[in-house]
Amino acid sequence: MTKILFQSGALQEATADTVADFVFEGSSRLIGLGSSKQGGSLSRVLKRDGFSGKVGTLYQWHPAGGAPVRRYLVAGLGPRKQYRLETLRRACAAVARKLRTYPDRHLALPLAAGPGGAADAAEMARAGVEGVLLGNYQFTKYRTCIPKPSLSLETIHIIAPGGRKSQVEKGIREGKLAAEATNFARDLVSEPAGFLNPSRMVAIAKKVAKENGLACEVLEGARLRKLGMGGLLGVGQGSSEPPYLVLLTYRPRGRKARKRVGIVGKGITFDSGGLSLKNADSMETMKCDMAGAACVLAVMRALPSLAPPVEVVGVLALAENMPGGKAIRPGDILKMHSGLTVEVRNTDAEGRLILGDALSYLAKQSVDEMINLATLTGACVVALGPLCAGVMGNNQTLINRVLKSADRSGEMMWQLPLFEDYLYQVESDVADIRNAGNRWGGAITAGLFLKKFVQDSIPWAHIDIAGPAFLDDDTYHTPKGATGAGVRTLLRLLSDGNR
Ligand code: BES
Ligand code: MN
Ligand code: ZN
Repeated sequence: MTKILFQSGALQEATADTVADFVFEGSSRLIGLGSSKQGGSLSRVLKRDGFSGKVGTLYQWHPAGGAPVRRYLVAGLGPRKQYRLETLRRACAAVARKLRTYPDRHLALPLAAGPGGAADAAEMARAGVEGVLLGNYQFTKYRTCIPKPSLSLETIHIIAPGGRKSQVEKGIREGKLAAEATNFARDLVSEPAGFLNPSRMVAIAKKVAKENGLACEVLEGARLRKLGMGGLLGVGQGSSEPPYLVLLTYRPRGRKARKRVGIVGKGITFDSGGLSLKNADSMETMKCDMAGAACVLAVMRALPSLAPPVEVVGVLALAENMPGGKAIRPGDILKMHSGLTVEVRNTDAEGRLILGDALSYLAKQSVDEMINLATLTGACVVALGPLCAGVMGNNQTLINRVLKSADRSGEMMWQLPLFEDYLYQVESDVADIRNAGNRWGGAITAGLFLKKFVQDSIPWAHIDIAGPAFLDDDTYHTPKGATGAGVRTLLRLLSDGNR
């Protein structure tokens, strides 16, 4: 495990195998080394070689003869005018990934001398640490004979002026927490569905609860039937693995909670589509359909260390969506926990069935607001592309807080409208509602369906992460595959998004 430590002083005095630094696009002035002797020489070679300074690009320089520093790695920050904390995350991810190919033990990283100055030291350190730890993520559990290169760093020294020690250390702590939570969610989503089925997820949730002092309640079988959870039971009945509803609770220690927030995750451990079977291509990555639940579990796991002043109930709605002799059929009618009856038009619109039950159940647990995350619709990916989540809800203040937390975390989220004029798409001829509309506006009609299970009196937001939960390509600090989408946004929202 690489240690990340604050080190006071100037970058040009740091001794490390690699000294990293940053430049803006079109400039050769180094942010950390400035006009020091090394800074001057390095600036000249950057200029000579025409280094672009684009975000994600690197320039490497080996100083001549016996210098204690083996290499300088200069990371581009892109145009100065477009600089944001996310830029720093991306640049630091590039540095970390590059270093996987070297045997270096010590890295010096200047993270508190940038354009934001002292005021932003904590946020800069946090973003930089997140970039390093997120960018360096690899899922290696099942690699037995073709190893991937890994970071050999013993320490990363975050170099900053002595006066910024406490801010930088706060940033390091928060960045580690956020990145480790995200990587935990990535690990869960990366697991094959043959291993990570609903009961395995329950076992992991119990372990997480025990190790982190969370209350944990597991609803199953007879209990779910008694609660009338026809949606969750219906979706689960085609699988040999039973469905579960898991409730985890975090309570602030030694003080009264300011409010009680509910977070719900869709946990379809595999989505075959059920009898409305998906085609082979669309099914390939459907182990990711529990990414909402993975996000919720990762957030719950991090809360005791983050210690926000709010009580949080985390709900995992777990089932496997399979075809078979016991599976629900198109045309079947399910009675939901709320009492509403749903005509199953399409068994592949299963997420809303399990979430409907989870949301209406949670709404009765005296929560002040609720947020759900779900890989809910392909339509949301069509609308916003693979990198951006869709946000909907019944309360603009809560939606704004979600969007603001996302922005501060560097996660892409965009609001979609819940136009009531599309409600006709979830109308049924034989039941109260049906679970699928026509082809158009699918992200919105799924949101409208969920809204049927939430009272207007409880602020609620729905985050459709079907796109960003699992990516086809590496993007900056997010290696392809499982991304841990939503984790950092929720942690922000719960810790400082309460204003
Ligand atoms: N899990 C899928 C949505 C999905 C698609 C997640 C792509 C990640 C990537 C969901 O259960 C689903 O199948 N939705 C259907 C709904 C339709 C049948 C109304 C869809 O989007 O096609
Ligand atoms: Mn589906
Ligand atoms: Zn699904």
